[in-house]
Parts: sequence; structure tokens; C-alpha cells
Amino acid sequence: MLIKALTLVEAFFIPFVHCRTMQKHQITIAIDGYSSSGKSTLAKDLAKALDYSYLDSGAMYRAVTLYFQQHSVDITNPHAVSEALENIEIIIPPARESFEIFLNGMDVSELIRSLEVSQLVSEVAAISPVRRYLVYQQQQAGKDGGIVMDGRDIGTVVFPNAELKIFVDSDIETRVLRRFQEIQLKSSAVTKDEVRANLKHRDHIDSTREDSPLQIADGARILNNTSMSRQEQLEEVLLWVKALIEEQ
Ligand code: CDP
Repeated sequence: MLIKALTLVEAFFIPFVHCRTMQKHQITIAIDGYSSSGKSTLAKDLAKALDYSYLDSGAMYRAVTLYFQQHSVDITNPHAVSEALENIEIIIPPARESFEIFLNGMDVSELIRSLEVSQLVSEVAAISPVRRYLVYQQQQAGKDGGIVMDGRDIGTVVFPNAELKIFVDSDIETRVLRRFQEIQLKSSAVTKDEVRANLKHRDHIDSTREDSPLQIADGARILNNTSMSRQEQLEEVLLWVKALIEEQ
């Protein structure tokens, strides 16, 4: 007889996911935090463990940025920005694990991760009409709950009533290393210094912009994952989710 050893997460969550169908209401999990703090990894892992959907709101800002770059849109010209937004259609097929994003029918999942896009995305994300356009779509995607969404304003603006709000942080050198290693896997010629400069630049703009700055949302739980493994952070947050769902 073949007995499969269960990982901690499986042992903990298989009975829990089965209970999910009995839940009256699937919760909304809003995750915010600094650049490259591991929000998306946590969000994807949570969505998988809970059988919820996952939405990476940052990918939407990146897709808009890519469109602006490809069409040389002058981001200082409000008329040009509004006109461009009317021509953008972003589609994110529902997925639990893999994540794909289509910009006007084209798969841009890889292209949006380039350093060129990273270098402009925070400027684009500070433009109010861009935010209004994307926040509406994010709210529509999550209106029925059962979603994990990560970004910079999810707990403060997109879903201020989310049952669970998390603010993820980790020290800058850990974040630089994680992003650097991720980029290296795709064999790009970006240096650690460039990655560090980009993370600091984006953190600064994201936290100081006028519209929806990155802040710790009211009632958010803080997760500092500097010395946590991927598995450890998932297990910690699953405990929070379990406690919340049992309260329902
Ligand atoms: O993955 P990483 O932490 O590098 O960033 P991201 O989630 O892909 O987001 C890219 C950029 O989009 C951020 O630096 C913000 O400027 C912007 N963003 C935002 O303003 N609001 C969100 N809800 C999500 C992202």
C-alpha cells in the first residue's frame, strides 16, 4: 500500500478546504506591501490552499504601463492618458496557480516584468484616471469574495471591508536578493544595484503619491517575512484565515 506523506499544509488544509463548500461566505483577502516583499507568492499560495481566485493588481498597472510605452503615450498629458485608457482591454483568465495577462488580446505575462516597465510603472500608477480605471475592474473581479488580491491599495481602497488585510514587509536587502534571483532565472543582464535602485524608487513613489499611497490599512495584520520561508509564511497566514473562518 502506498501511503503519501502529507505536508503540513496539506494535513492542515485538506479538511479545511472541504469545509469551504459549507461556508456561507468566502472571505476576501487583501494583501499590500512594499515592492518585491513576497506578496504575490503568498497570495498565490493562499489562493491555491483555499481554492480561491487570485488577482495580481500590480500586473494590471504593469500592462497599462507597457501599453503607454508601446504607444509613446505622454503621461503628463491627461487627454492622451484618457484616450489611451479607452483603447486598453486587459483580460486575466481566472486561475489558481499560473498567472496570465492579456493586453488587447496579446499575452504580455513576461513582457510586463521587464526592467523598462518596472522603471515607469510607479509614475503611471500615480495617475488618478489610471487608478480609477483599474480599481473598478479589481472591485468587479472580487465582488463575490473568495479572492486573494495583492497590491498597494487593496486593503485601503479596493476592498476596505476585506475580512483579512495583510501588510507584508521584509528588509530591503532580502527583497533585492529575491527579485535579483527571480530575474536571473530568466537570464536577464540586470545588476543587483539596478534592482535595488528600482525597488527604492518605486517604494518612494508608491508611499508618497497623493492618490492611494501605500499605507498599512486599518485593521491590517503585519507580516514581516524577512526570515521566513515560503512555507512558513503560508502556514502563519493560514492560521489567521482558519481563525477568521471559524468565527463566521
Ligand atoms: O511585484 P512587485 O512588488 O515588484 O510590484 P507589482 O505588484 O508588480 O506592482 C508594480 C507597481 O504597480 C507598483 O510599484 C505600484 O507602483 C503599482 N501598483 C499600485 O500602485 N497599486 C496596486 N494595487 C498594485 C501595484
